[in-house]
Amino acid sequence: MKLLVTGAGGMLGQEVAAAARRAGHGVVALARAHLDVTRTDLVRRRFDAERPDAVINCAAYTNVDGAEEDRALAFALNGEAPAAVAAAAAEVDAAVLHVSSDYVFDGRKGEPYVESDATAPLSVYGESKLAGEEPTAAANRRHFVVRSAWLFGLGGPNFVDTMLRLGREREEVRVVDDQVGSPTSCVDLAEALVRLVATDHYGLHHVAGGGACSWAELAAETFRQAELGCRVTPITTAEMGRPAPRPAYSALDSERPETPRLRPWPEALAAYLAARTEREGAIA
Ligand SMILES: NC(=O)c1ccc[n+]([C@@H]2O[C@H](COP(=O)([O-])OP(=O)(O)OC[C@H]3O[C@@H](n4cnc5c(N)ncnc54)[C@H](OP(=O)(O)O)[C@@H]3O)[C@@H](O)[C@H]2O)c1
Repeated sequence: MKLLVTGAGGMLGQEVAAAARRAGHGVVALARAHLDVTRTDLVRRRFDAERPDAVINCAAYTNVDGAEEDRALAFALNGEAPAAVAAAAAEVDAAVLHVSSDYVFDGRKGEPYVESDATAPLSVYGESKLAGEEPTAAANRRHFVVRSAWLFGLGGPNFVDTMLRLGREREEVRVVDDQVGSPTSCVDLAEALVRLVATDHYGLHHVAGGGACSWAELAAETFRQAELGCRVTPITTAEMGRPAPRPAYSALDSERPETPRLRPWPEALAAYLAARTEREGAIA
């Protein structure tokens, strides 16, 4: 099939385009410079010219703390643009897959969130991501809304990379231990999205790395696997003092048998560290 990827320059978008090519699909990968998803006229014209079978929308406003100050831009990109993309896809009879976030939840459930759980975002970013979900579904009958979480991948800045840099520079890092989530490999998620979009299992899906941990546990496992001697000192969210509130517990699980399941996050982390090492070898 022919897949069109928007936001293809981002961390997930790059992996989605690569996974689609590996799967043997025709791929039109459009980074922001090639297609601005807030320009509805351009989106419609491009979809009409390309006539894809499905669109995977990876474009987003992803600065969680920045969104607290930049509400209008966060809503334009995460709320309005996904609906316009979904509608433009429907006009050319293409399915649409939109990526959403675990931050649509308030974290009070205390066990993994499934698709039917009530949403209650704490942050502007979470509100803006939620604002993109329902309009996407309304605009295109053949829609997939996939919530994921805590992404790490070769194509962009992420928590694991930050820990690896700090772990080489310091003897100790202070990391938040009272937020628990599902770390997710962009490679694993991308492969799942490419498989899912070729099915008729429309609707809402939770797709994230298997298992859950805190940021401090993710840092400690990263250091263990990378054989870095850096010590992790657990701190609280309040001590960290970030502008945007975050859910204390936002691990994701699926209640839908047809939803793709990803391998446990420590295995995916090991594969990611190996891919980083391979890339560093290729560059050196
Ligand atoms: N990262 C996470 O931990 C996480 C967790 C849960 C869900 N998600 C969701 O996963 C998806 C992918 O996130 P990511 O981590 O890959 O983020 P990312 O690396 O920031 O990618 C987002 C991409 O969207 C592009 N973009 C911004 N404005 C655009 C516009 N007007 N038109 C077209 N493209 C535009 C960005 O381009 P520029 O770089 O040029 O701005 C960037 O390449 C998002 O929907 C995000 O909400 C992410």
